[in-house]
Amino acid sequence: MGSTSKRKATSTTTTSATTDIMSKQQQQQHGIPWVEKYRPRSLDEVVGNEDTLIRLRAVAADGNVPNLILCGPPGTGKTTSVHALARQLLGSAYSHGVLELNASDSRGIDVVRNKIKSFAMNKVSLPPGRHKIIILDEADSMTSAAQQALRRTMEIYSNTTRFALACNVSTKIIEPIQSRAAILRYGRLTDEQVLNRLRYVCEQENVSYSNDGLEAIIFTAEGDMRNALNNLQATVSGFEYVDKTNVFKVCDQPHPTTVRAILDACVGGKTNEAVIEMNTLWKTGYGCGDIVGTMFKVARVHDGMGEAMKLEYLREIGFTHMRIADGVGTPLQLMGLVARLCKLAEEGPASSTEM
Ligand SMILES: Nc1ncnc2c1ncn2[C@@H]1O[C@H](COP(=O)(O)OP(=O)(O)OP(=O)(O)O)[C@@H](O)[C@H]1O
Ligand SMILES: [Mg+2]
Repeated sequence: MGSTSKRKATSTTTTSATTDIMSKQQQQQHGIPWVEKYRPRSLDEVVGNEDTLIRLRAVAADGNVPNLILCGPPGTGKTTSVHALARQLLGSAYSHGVLELNASDSRGIDVVRNKIKSFAMNKVSLPPGRHKIIILDEADSMTSAAQQALRRTMEIYSNTTRFALACNVSTKIIEPIQSRAAILRYGRLTDEQVLNRLRYVCEQENVSYSNDGLEAIIFTAEGDMRNALNNLQATVSGFEYVDKTNVFKVCDQPHPTTVRAILDACVGGKTNEAVIEMNTLWKTGYGCGDIVGTMFKVARVHDGMGEAMKLEYLREIGFTHMRIADGVGTPLQLMGLVARLCKLAEEGPASSTEM
């Protein structure tokens, strides 16, 4: 019996080893957040911003990389694209041909002098015609002294090294660096692009969802894919089923239906009703910024008023948002807003343009 089991054991060693590895990988995959699990590995998988990505794909195919600055709002794929580009360019040399520094590393002038320079000077074997890549993620948080120190470094080592900077606002990168690099801009992703990606992830993870649930996630994410995937995972781990109610419970933003009711009351000129509903919403504990932000999003897609009136509404909401952002976050501001919106509905949009 001992010998049979031994034989069995040897004959299945290789398969059990692979299944062991598989299950280990699966276990590791199980614990990681979906944003990382579904981070695109190649440029072809990155969704949206077609113009920018066409340029990046051309660069990846050609191999002639300029210094790059990628800028745009959070969660739109900048870090992902720059790593995918490096991976595509360098292949197996990716691990030693890339130096990544992000805001978590100190990136003062010393780091530019020592770490970046010594990496740029190092000799590494790369595929023919390829360059080492230094990725400076979240570059807008680099001090301007460090950026100044980069200027000459970028030029001196330009025959062996390329720089890729990712940032949220390009104006925080000093002009001389901007002039040394090609600037690629990322915009927020469209609802459809986020929806398709969410559907894909739901399929992969066997998530049961309703369409209004995914719509709610898109509403809260505002074109930020990271936010959308995080909200999806949070809803799934909290409630399993993804529908509108569960999503808003997890994301904890004022419910658009409640806000819509307030707007409807305003459009109907029912001041009392609107004020009471606003008061109830305020008492549930939301901040003024949250309420007025959601109100803007709901008003933007509101179908119960004419175009001119909608513009007036958005203007009023915008002004209130500005005051609240200035620090005047009192319920009085919200009530004032509601009163002005009701007045607008009674007098019609023309009245205020005369002002
Ligand atoms: N265009 C995209 N296509 C597919 N997935 C995306 C895209 N953009 C973002 N994601 C998802 O969001 C996650 C975060 O994206 P990424 O790190 O590239 O954002 P970022 O643009 O660098 O944002 P930040 O400015 O906050 O650094 C990725 O792991 C990926 O799962
Ligand atoms: Mg990033």
